[in-house]
Amino acid sequence: MELENSNVNFFNPSVDNIQELHEDKRLRPSSFNEFIGQKLVISNIDIMVQSAIKREAAMDHALFSGPPGLGKTSLAMLIAEKLGSELHMISGPAIEKKGDIAAILTNLKPRDVLFIDEIHRIHISVEEILYSAIEDFRLDILVGQGAAARTLKIDLAPFTLIGATTRSGLLSNPLRDRFMASFHFDFYDAEDLIQIIDINCKKLNLKISTQAKGEMAKRARGTPRIANRILRRVRDYAIVKEVEEISKNEVVKALEMLDIDHYGLDSMDRRIMTVMKDYYGGGPVGIEALCATLGEDRTTLEEVYEPYLLKEGFILRTPRGRTLSEKALEHLNS
Ligand SMILES: Nc1ncnc2c1ncn2[C@@H]1O[C@H](COP(=O)(O)OP(=O)(O)OP(=O)(O)O)[C@@H](O)[C@H]1O
Ligand SMILES: [Mg+2]
Repeated sequence: MELENSNVNFFNPSVDNIQELHEDKRLRPSSFNEFIGQKLVISNIDIMVQSAIKREAAMDHALFSGPPGLGKTSLAMLIAEKLGSELHMISGPAIEKKGDIAAILTNLKPRDVLFIDEIHRIHISVEEILYSAIEDFRLDILVGQGAAARTLKIDLAPFTLIGATTRSGLLSNPLRDRFMASFHFDFYDAEDLIQIIDINCKKLNLKISTQAKGEMAKRARGTPRIANRILRRVRDYAIVKEVEEISKNEVVKALEMLDIDHYGLDSMDRRIMTVMKDYYGGGPVGIEALCATLGEDRTTLEEVYEPYLLKEGFILRTPRGRTLSEKALEHLNS
């Protein structure tokens, strides 16, 4: 048996493979009780859901923002389930034409939930159709040309739009303003991650020590999706080595094999910092130059790697570009 997926993609929380998709289903929180952390988001959402149920109306539209793997999709699924509504999931950039979004919208039943992932990447023509759909549950479509042009108005069933984005700053103002509630997902603290790991160990039938859970939580970059991935790799290691109860020792060994250090940084994170140090004297360096040297695309760097490096203070953002912190230099030299 081989430890699969131990390349840099392992750590890219937005990359999924088929097996992980399948296992993700099992590890996804199946009820609000299993959705750990993000307390402020959850308490607000709970009120919105309960109000919608009492009013017998569609829940207000909501926007979820935050780095990948923090539970935006999972929460949308739980909301639809609690509302007893059908969930329609679509990725923003996949809706190519006005006709596509019109077909999706006219197919919605009263109180259905439409989840649009990566809503900041939606085409502008599609976005414009969304405005009246969200605001007035009405489709305004321009038909014909010139003097014969007229607007066709089609009533839609009252529905709930949940938009998810890793970059809320890239959302246009007219679209952002139409969401009645906006929630930001933060990185999880170790305590929350331990709880998530605990629940998922039970789901996977794994025996594991408290210390081992703590070590995994510490190295999961505040991200449940990564905690789950580490858990699966540690499980593989334990199976191969025929370990009865997983201890901290196995966690450390499995993570060493995956090249994940005690801050939870992987080889790509360290490469980013090393390039900044060796090629740019620790910065400041512009994002474009950095991406070119790394041969990595800007979106991945900005949405996947940078948020955690910024949060943990390894990288600082200044008006002149990114710089390495003292903490990063110490870490690279250690
Ligand atoms: N609060 C949570 N409690 C328990 N598990 C969670 C929680 N949030 C996320 N997870 C786990 O992490 C995995 C990833 O979460 P999810 O797919 O919802 O993230 P996301 O924010 O939609 O990411 P992306 O931006 O990449 O779409 C889920 O399959 C689930 O197992
Ligand atoms: Mg998602």
